[in-house]
Amino acid sequence: MQIVRGVEELRAAVKNSRVVGERLALVPTMGALHAGHMALVTAGKQHADRVAASIFVNPAQFAAHEDLDRYPRQEQTDAAMLEAVGCDLLWLPAVTDIYPDGFATKVSVAGVSDNWEGASRPGHFDGVATVVAKLLLAVQPDVALFGEKDFQQLAVIRRMVVDLNIPVEIIGLPTVRDPDGLALSSRNAYLSVENRQRALALPRTLQATASTIRGGGEVAKALRTATEALIESGFSTVDYVALVDIDTLEPVDRADHARLIAAATIGGTRLIDNLAV
Ligand code: PAJ
Repeated sequence: MQIVRGVEELRAAVKNSRVVGERLALVPTMGALHAGHMALVTAGKQHADRVAASIFVNPAQFAAHEDLDRYPRQEQTDAAMLEAVGCDLLWLPAVTDIYPDGFATKVSVAGVSDNWEGASRPGHFDGVATVVAKLLLAVQPDVALFGEKDFQQLAVIRRMVVDLNIPVEIIGLPTVRDPDGLALSSRNAYLSVENRQRALALPRTLQATASTIRGGGEVAKALRTATEALIESGFSTVDYVALVDIDTLEPVDRADHARLIAAATIGGTRLIDNLAV
């Protein structure tokens, strides 16, 4: 696996594969890699001749009070994991490579960014859209792979790629979970053993709520019940439990074309999860 850092070095590394007509896949990440990220790389290999991954803890998508400084960083472990699953190229840009002096451009995807994560974390999706646009422009992959774990993020990126005519195919992959059902997340590392156990209420509540809604239960009532169940299980705050359209992320009250999404905090750690209905 080749490791590159600056944008010029990256461009040189991808140029060769383009000349010989190889298809290239990109898996953008913020590191602290786990089996969810590995699944994206493995899928990338099925869609392309070569797979590139990027690791960049993007300051622009963290608010001042959020966990930018303590976000787990483990470059060597991450590189070894990527190499083991057959990743061909790893791009590790520095903050100055992505945000040079005087940086003044922002990509903002209206509508689909507005609610849920966008409302709880103002500016978050501008940061995500801006950095993903930059990563796609720098690497120019044929396909880019993202997890459904961040369901709204995936919808924002799909909208942006269509709106900006970025010539890349976006592939979304199912959430990888621990055997007990908790969605893998780099932030799970913040959870105490006790709260890790209590956090199982999140996937379990989503399962129960999805099956109620599937069975024809009243949506508003099912969502209220879910919020109460999370609080009862030890979550301190529930930012939202919502049923939304899978493309626009607008709230809906029917199971058709819908996704159940939630965000809640336990022991100071904010977790998100979602489920098909
Ligand atoms: P990060 O949280 O590192 O996630 C990188 C990719 O892995 C995202 O597409 C995310 O949805 C996916 N992912 C995370 N957990 C997963 C799981 N349990 N199963 C499947 N896929 C999972 O998301 C980001 O980084 C950033 O916002 C980024 C897109 C890199 C822009 O900075």
